[in-house]
Amino acid sequence: MIGADEDVSRNEVSTDDPLISNNQNENGNKLPIPPLLENKNSEEGKAEFDLEVQSGKTEFIKGKETDTLGYNGDYLGPIIKVNKGDDVKVNVKNTLDEQTTVHWHGLEVIGEMDGGPHQVINSNSTWKPQFTIDQPASTLWYHPHLLDKTGEQVYKGLAGLFYIEDEVSSKLDIPKEHGVDDIPLVIQDKRFTENGDVSYNLNMRDRMNGLLGDTAVINGAISPELDVKNEVIRLRLLNGSNARDYKFNFNDNNEFNQIASDGGFLEESVAMKNLSLAPAERAEILLDLSEYKSGEQVTLRDSNNNLMTINVVEESSTKKNIPEKLVEIEDYNRTDAVRSREFVMSGMGPMVNINGKQMDMNRIDEKINVDELEEWVISNESSGGMGGMMGMMDSTPHPFHVHGVQFRIIERNGAKPPINEQGWKDTVMVGNDEEVKILINFTKKGEFMYHCHILEHEDAGMMGQFLVE
Ligand code: C2O
Ligand code: CU
Ligand code: CU
Repeated sequence: MIGADEDVSRNEVSTDDPLISNNQNENGNKLPIPPLLENKNSEEGKAEFDLEVQSGKTEFIKGKETDTLGYNGDYLGPIIKVNKGDDVKVNVKNTLDEQTTVHWHGLEVIGEMDGGPHQVINSNSTWKPQFTIDQPASTLWYHPHLLDKTGEQVYKGLAGLFYIEDEVSSKLDIPKEHGVDDIPLVIQDKRFTENGDVSYNLNMRDRMNGLLGDTAVINGAISPELDVKNEVIRLRLLNGSNARDYKFNFNDNNEFNQIASDGGFLEESVAMKNLSLAPAERAEILLDLSEYKSGEQVTLRDSNNNLMTINVVEESSTKKNIPEKLVEIEDYNRTDAVRSREFVMSGMGPMVNINGKQMDMNRIDEKINVDELEEWVISNESSGGMGGMMGMMDSTPHPFHVHGVQFRIIERNGAKPPINEQGWKDTVMVGNDEEVKILINFTKKGEFMYHCHILEHEDAGMMGQFLVE
């Protein structure tokens, strides 16, 4: 195991408002497990799915009904699971009385299938994207991407996981039983009003920092409980929050192992006790519970705040180990990059921008040649200025995301990135005054977005477009 004693997490990003743990629902509130979506095509190598974007009601707090949005349900969405090489069709029906889009975050597909702000799905119409899965096993996700309106739709519940499996993931000796020892965790934070609403009314601070809720909701439940055996369990974490940066850890100071980042498995398991995830980032971790006895429990936390209780309810007869070697990842060399581009994120609140520009649907900001490796240098100059002087905030981290690709981080502030950031990534946190260098190979043609994944920043225009030809 590598990295056992070093702190592998990137620089901690401070979030002003900590989560409060909610006590209202503490009596046996089981973790909901999003179902795997039925594949309508039984032919080998093919898959077809139906998704319906709908509005609904969710009882997060006992006795209170909250208006929410979901895919094929009231809140969040089912898990789409495909294999590498599959030809996939999705029928996305929008039953809302407003427009939406469905973006496949992390998926390498051509621009027209990406589901960004150009692929609008009108009310009562159906979008039928098709694509072939052309990337390794990974935990991706899908969510709306309507221009200026992404934050509200995601906040109200439009988010779902997208699993890719391949020969490597099927051979690896890791937990794979959905909902039993392979657990999806979609984490959002909400701000409930007295009557249980989650209205999306942004105040001044939300416009600055992004909307920070005060209550964590995991797969739709507040402070849920997960029952497992005393064995190794796999947690697939998605930070599906609009703006909150999580620092995951367990209350017993447990060591756990990260095995995958945004775009797939890491080369080796990385032992750690703390894991930071910015909005849109994913991580798969293995937690070894074999030392626990039936009746004992451990708590998943964000810093010091409890998120979920894991109850060991049964002793396991088999023993699983945590594999050290996971997968080979091809080397990316800076000397192979044909070009370097700079992206400077700056500004506050409604002024947030990239390279001094705000999103314009009719403007292509960068033109890229297909199959060329490029270096992108991303920096964050949002500190200081008016916001800093007014004491509104002391830090504006921006998670930078690129559509249609998985990239590699080669440098964070002049140094090699932490070991758990050396695998495939599609989103990278760039803290105050930080500079991050990434290498990207653009393999799919079309028009794509790059943007800050704090959704209030994205909606304010902190986004640009690139064209791959
Ligand atoms: Cu997760 Cu442009 O999005
Ligand atoms: Cu994306
Ligand atoms: Cu931002």
